[in-house]
Amino acid sequence: MMILGIESSCDDTSAAVIKNDKTLLSNVISSQVEFHTKYGGVVPEIASRKHQECIIPVIREALFKAGLTLDDIDGIAVTQGPGLVGSLLVGINAAKSIAHSRKLPIVGINHLEGHMLAPHLENEINFPNITLVVSGGHTNLYKVSNFGSYTLLGSTRDDAAGEAFDKVAKLLDLGYPGGVIIDKLSKLGDPSSIQFPRPMLNNPSYDFSFSGLKTAVRYYTDKIPENELTETKINDICASFQTAVVDILTTKTIQAAKEHHAEIITLTGGVAANSLLRSQMTEKAAKYNIKVYTPSILLCTDNAAMIAFAGLKRISSYDKFPYSLNAISRWPL
Ligand code: KG4
Ligand code: ZN
Repeated sequence: MMILGIESSCDDTSAAVIKNDKTLLSNVISSQVEFHTKYGGVVPEIASRKHQECIIPVIREALFKAGLTLDDIDGIAVTQGPGLVGSLLVGINAAKSIAHSRKLPIVGINHLEGHMLAPHLENEINFPNITLVVSGGHTNLYKVSNFGSYTLLGSTRDDAAGEAFDKVAKLLDLGYPGGVIIDKLSKLGDPSSIQFPRPMLNNPSYDFSFSGLKTAVRYYTDKIPENELTETKINDICASFQTAVVDILTTKTIQAAKEHHAEIITLTGGVAANSLLRSQMTEKAAKYNIKVYTPSILLCTDNAAMIAFAGLKRISSYDKFPYSLNAISRWPL
């Protein structure tokens, strides 16, 4: 059984091939970052145009790297939502066209489920576990009882954590995407130099809020005379902001694991690539004998491997007549 996975929900065009024993044969990702950087964020029209240019070459390369042709593929898994409709449709139409011409079954995958299952690609992880999906669009905390059995414990009430990273980077004029830049600069700064607020930290719910923290960074930065906004100061702001985000995410996730008697936490999504979040979650959880699994960096950010893997888990949902499959821009999981 060979599944071709296709992902195009935001600004990465990706295709991957996975075998039924979850051996990943290829995972090709074409990033559009260079086309969006000067706008400080993803421009939907540019994103869908670039997906159109890249989708076929990326699928071809994924098949080539796997040493296969379309003749060897048994099914197609494609991201159906949530995401930018114009971007999603490019992947969906490519998937439908291949499925139609090759008489292949197809399944639409929720992007969040893809992220959620990414840690399982590289490890055998038991259930139940607590999973934090933390990306540019979502900050969702789940109790996961099995594949396909997810209980949402909390989510962000305003900005997603990745969105806060990107907005803070933008206000400091650091470039896009902000997370990876702030991660790097934070290593040069003093994380205890500025006491930024930790919204919702002491609220008993598992919801998050990052908009106020972002605004606190803005107020702090606005008060500093331009000649005092030195590299050292910017590094300190980054380190202090990042520490506040990581404090909130780790405290709430570990609290949920303790309350639900889960011995495992999985940490996934683009922000799970953050070096401080990875180390702090692992260290803090270890104090309660909780083990943390997080995917390798390439599988944290958007990729088709996680979509192909979710496709393997959803074999029973494949459709032989996929013509009605359509993009779903908002699709809670
Ligand atoms: O999962 P993803 O690739 O796309 C979405 O589904 O949103 O996540 C992208 C987000 C961006 O906000 C980006 O700034 C953030 O992940 N990100 C990071 C790091 N690498 C990517 N945030 C913090 N630290 C990082 N190292
Ligand atoms: Zn994503």
